[in-house]
Amino acid sequence: MRGALLSILILCAVTFVGAVSFADEREAGKPAYAEKKDFCIVCHEGLKGGLKRPVIEWRMSVHDGSAGRCNVCHRGDPGVNDKKLAKTKQSGFTGKPDKILIADFCGRDGCHAAAAGQFRLGPHYPSVLRNNHPNCASCHGAHNIQRSTAGIISEKTCSSCHTADFSRNTVLFIRETNRAIEDMGRDIKYIGSKHGDTLDLQNRLDTARTRFYRFVHVSPKEEMESTRKLLGVEVSSLEADVKTKVSLIGRIDLLYIVMVVFQLIFIGGISIYTLVMYSKRRKYGRD
Ligand code: HEC
Ligand code: HEC
Ligand code: HEC
Ligand code: HEC
Repeated sequence: MRGALLSILILCAVTFVGAVSFADEREAGKPAYAEKKDFCIVCHEGLKGGLKRPVIEWRMSVHDGSAGRCNVCHRGDPGVNDKKLAKTKQSGFTGKPDKILIADFCGRDGCHAAAAGQFRLGPHYPSVLRNNHPNCASCHGAHNIQRSTAGIISEKTCSSCHTADFSRNTVLFIRETNRAIEDMGRDIKYIGSKHGDTLDLQNRLDTARTRFYRFVHVSPKEEMESTRKLLGVEVSSLEADVKTKVSLIGRIDLLYIVMVVFQLIFIGGISIYTLVMYSKRRKYGRD
């Protein structure tokens, strides 16, 4: 008996310490790699201006951490503390890349292969070949890359090449679709939390999302009009179905509340009735 109690206590202590140290690690945002030995970061952090700025921006970006370090994009050898030896030809170092290289940068090692692949098929890619824009960094930035939302682009991002009308219209469509997809994601989670069936909804949302990114990254020109139409239809029919499910859950919740209230009233009534009868009987009993 004491043995069992002891082992339960030990188990609790181990779980607690484990949980605390895990939380510590998460809280401190400790990188999972030895940053001190990454000399790209160490050396550039001690430099000035445009040579230091990438480190500061990168630290505030989604790439901060082991997966998106300097050498993932620029290549070179991060283990050598020497600017020449760190950047030999053999190590594949690329300094400031040609704009056209940026799509390849981002698609390296299977990183953003899907986005880069879509981009290469569309008319923006030959535009980059001609005049360097709009490459991935024109919309996403190079070192200060944030989680992608429709907020990273505005009319201005497009209007240097497209008419004001087209830019406004397209950016508005991207913003609205983005909002609809985010809202539906939240609603589908809610439906799931109420044990509703979400498999079909989730699959359709994933399809819509993929089509949306194809639109955002501009696939072949001939496809754009049909992609936009299909996306519009898909999103609005999915929205209707999600809303129906959410309101059904709302109604079931209401029914549940009404039932609980009735039960409480019923139990309360019976209790009062019993109490009254009991006190009456005691009164008559005494008489
Ligand atoms: C010992 C210091 C040091 C180390 C280590 C170092 N760099 Fe540099 N880096 C520099 C300096 C200084 C420059 C400015 C150019 C020059 O003086 O050669 C520079 C320039 C650059 C440039 C701009 C090149 C251009 O063409 O404009 C990039 C990109 C870069 N470094 C990336 C890296 C990466 C990636 C690593 C790690 C693989 C790295 N650096 C390691 C000191 C360093
Ligand atoms: C996600 C890919 C990516 C990562 C990670 C990355 N860079 Fe870059 N870097 C780029 C791109 C793209 C450019 C070219 C930007 C442009 O032309 O506007 C660039 C340009 C530079 C330049 C030249 C800047 C200039 O204006 O001349 C330096 C220096 C540099 N990077 C250093 C670094 C260092 C140091 C790190 C690590 C902290 C790093 N980069 C991480 C993609 C990256
Ligand atoms: C014309 C502007 C533009 C260009 C150019 C662009 N993107 Fe995007 N990208 C966006 C916008 C806007 C979003 C966010 C859409 C949303 O979620 O609302 C996005 C989303 C993404 C995402 C997240 C969605 C996903 O597919 O996982 C990735 C990754 C991405 N872009 C990578 C790239 C890469 C790589 C390139 C270059 C090959 C590129 N982008 C070029 C505007 C652009
Ligand atoms: C540096 C110039 C440039 C910038 C900036 C630019 N584009 Fe484009 N875009 C082009 C070119 C060139 C084409 C191909 C046009 C053609 O073939 O008629 C194109 C085609 C398109 C197409 C498909 C063609 C169509 O008419 O349906 C869409 C959609 C598009 N761009 C959206 C955008 C959006 C959204 C932005 C801003 C976030 C943007 N573009 C920024 C140059 C640019």
